[in-house]
Amino acid sequence: MSNANAARAVVVLTGAGISAESGLGTFRDVDGIWTKHPLEDLATPEGFARNPDFVQGFYNARRAQLKESEPNAAHLALARLEAALQAAGHSFTLITQNVDNLHQAAGSQNVLHMHGELLKVRCGGCNAVVRWPGDISTATPCPCCEATGLMRPHVVWFGEMPLHMDEIERAIDKASLFVSIGTSGNVYPAAGYVRMARMAGARTVELNLEPSEGASLFQDTRYGPASEVVPAWVDEVMATL
Ligand code: APR
Repeated sequence: MSNANAARAVVVLTGAGISAESGLGTFRDVDGIWTKHPLEDLATPEGFARNPDFVQGFYNARRAQLKESEPNAAHLALARLEAALQAAGHSFTLITQNVDNLHQAAGSQNVLHMHGELLKVRCGGCNAVVRWPGDISTATPCPCCEATGLMRPHVVWFGEMPLHMDEIERAIDKASLFVSIGTSGNVYPAAGYVRMARMAGARTVELNLEPSEGASLFQDTRYGPASEVVPAWVDEVMATL
């Protein structure tokens, strides 16, 4: 039996599925981004070195699409949960593989973007990371060191180290509840977090359209569109606070 007054440490991991109903494509579903475009060309440092303008154009288009998108009921429910947990003295960490900003737009505060952020760019020369809602090209000078040809999306590509790893592992080590939402469980290290959470003694929950690769590792699973299953699950948790 759980003690509703005990301090809880809730860790949520999200993937592209949570933003699907906001109009942003997922990666591996039928019609997913990587079924239409080769990820080797668009999401690796080697692809960028081969054809920087092609890669910049792809991320410029995604940035433009993001500006037209709004958080859906699932993003809003997680922001509501965070506020309620914090008011009740519990902790909440939202780890996202998504490079969109829809969690923040919904009001989430403690968000760790492990794969970077589409609305930021980084200079490959001086490493400055700057907010950048518009287009970039090879001709765009770095606002910090003024070098040209080195600006790139602040997005973690295959073969690169994800961000906030220490903070993420610390949060999962302390988690009492780990919830994975809208991710296929194909990409590590995020795909390994459910095992880490189980080892830390957390209860594990999967909310997804369909069972993910790691579905058998979750103790509780709910399948359906994020805009339905996430608010319903959040209501259940909030009723126990
Ligand atoms: N509601 C809930 N889940 C959904 C919905 C929806 N409306 N639509 C799709 N899904 C689920 C799919 O069933 C799938 O399991 O979301 C998951 C999306 O999986 P992927 O496309 O593989 O996305 P993700 O897991 O976030 O990918 C991980 O791969 O290329 C990289 O860097 C990219 O961060 C990304 C990483």
